[in-house]
Amino acid sequence: MTVSIAVIGAGPVGAALARGLAGAGHDVAVGVRSPDDPKHEAVRGDVPVRAIGEAVDRASVVVLAVPMDTLGELLRGLVLRPGHVVVDATNAVRHPVPAGFDTVGAYVASLLPGGVHLVKAFNTIGAEHLRTGRVGGTAAFLPIAGDDEGRALVAGLARDLGFEVAELGGRDTIRLVEDFARLWIHLAFRCGWGRDFGFAVVRS
Ligand SMILES: NC(=O)c1ccc[n+]([C@@H]2O[C@H](COP(=O)([O-])OP(=O)(O)OC[C@H]3O[C@@H](n4cnc5c(N)ncnc54)[C@H](OP(=O)(O)O)[C@@H]3O)[C@@H](O)[C@H]2O)c1
Repeated sequence: MTVSIAVIGAGPVGAALARGLAGAGHDVAVGVRSPDDPKHEAVRGDVPVRAIGEAVDRASVVVLAVPMDTLGELLRGLVLRPGHVVVDATNAVRHPVPAGFDTVGAYVASLLPGGVHLVKAFNTIGAEHLRTGRVGGTAAFLPIAGDDEGRALVAGLARDLGFEVAELGGRDTIRLVEDFARLWIHLAFRCGWGRDFGFAVVRS
């Protein structure tokens, strides 16, 4: 099934997800503040680059691939419809989780209109592996969490990319996904592993 997707943000995460999902056959556009900016030429060669509002209006799934501290400004300006699935791929890296919230996901949820479904995904591995979902030829493990109404759809998109996906549960399990991202970031930057790794599932 082809899914219409707006990826907001054309940084490493947005570009990789947009290219990977388009390559898997989905109807993908990248949404940016200045679509005519020449810096988007490389992405435009692979997927359409549109104004954010236009990309969101045409999509059923909206992926947030922007700095966490810009989410408030971005989401207050978006026109989201009941039934839209919003995928939060952000992490609180350079800024703490906003005051009053225990996760970024809870903060995002507070900014969504009623009837919009929230899923946390694609934040637990380096951007360079998001296009294929694979590291060194092996499917990387991708935990996702959020509303039942959108989670299976997003799990399918992640499998289309190549990931081995675990659906953890509802919004109450978003914390686990964000903790898992913190583990990846800790290993990459504090433990000196670098960015070129992912986690895989081993079974007997
Ligand atoms: N890099 C990774 O390996 C990685 C992995 C997993 C998750 N994440 C998370 O994914 C998110 C995106 O990371 P990133 O590394 O791709 O790039 P980034 O540098 O965090 O984000 C770049 C994109 O965000 C856009 N942007 C900035 N402020 C905006 C605003 N107010 N409204 C709309 N768009 C805005 C930028 O647009 P302009 O060009 O117009 O400024 C640019 O397209 C972050 O939250 C990050 O923590 C990153």
